[in-house]
Amino acid sequence: MDIRILRSSDIPHVQQTNITNLPENYFCKYYMYHALTWPNLSYVAVDVSRPQKTPYDQPKIVGYVLAKMEEEPSDGIPHGHITSLSVMRTHRRLGLAEKLMRQSQRAMTETWGAKYVSLHVRESNVAALALYRDTLGFKVMGTEAKYYADGEDAYSMRMDLEHLL
Ligand code: ACO
Repeated sequence: MDIRILRSSDIPHVQQTNITNLPENYFCKYYMYHALTWPNLSYVAVDVSRPQKTPYDQPKIVGYVLAKMEEEPSDGIPHGHITSLSVMRTHRRLGLAEKLMRQSQRAMTETWGAKYVSLHVRESNVAALALYRDTLGFKVMGTEAKYYADGEDAYSMRMDLEHLL
């Protein structure tokens, strides 16, 4: 499995992965906005056991992290934000999400001077909560009531990045 920066040509495949794994979906232009504005913050996991033999072969994207810098941080502190993360069911528990997150977090500090990274996650999302809290070290900062379109509350989470500098 290869972890590399998201390219514009990956976007339809990433969008398909997102639709398969999560109910929070985005227009193509929102992915493009991330890729063009913060080109080293979003990554894909590619299954290289199926190599591209011709330029027309499609890469097999099995996971992605879509990330950005907060553009107008209300606290005035530069910080990153994880817009979306998912890994295909067939490729879970291989450490891909952890690797995708760590790559993005490193680029947030090194290139963009981020002091911390934030995200939202469904209160019921046991797998993602374990990844963020136990594996990566995020902390729950609070709850946002009815954050999701179906009425579920979100945990607002944050992880300090200053130790990466
Ligand atoms: N149950 C408990 N702990 C888990 C689980 C699980 N199902 N999945 C991951 N973890 C924890 C474990 O501690 C794991 O370490 P271990 O395997 O050594 O025990 C650690 O996280 C790292 O796991 P990874 O293998 O890196 O995680 P994976 O690649 O399987 O992806 C993810 C995890 C992204 C949550 C995946 O399950 C998924 O795509 N779920 C559906 C989409 C989703 O919920 N995305 C997050 C939404 S929030 C947002 O996008 C900001």
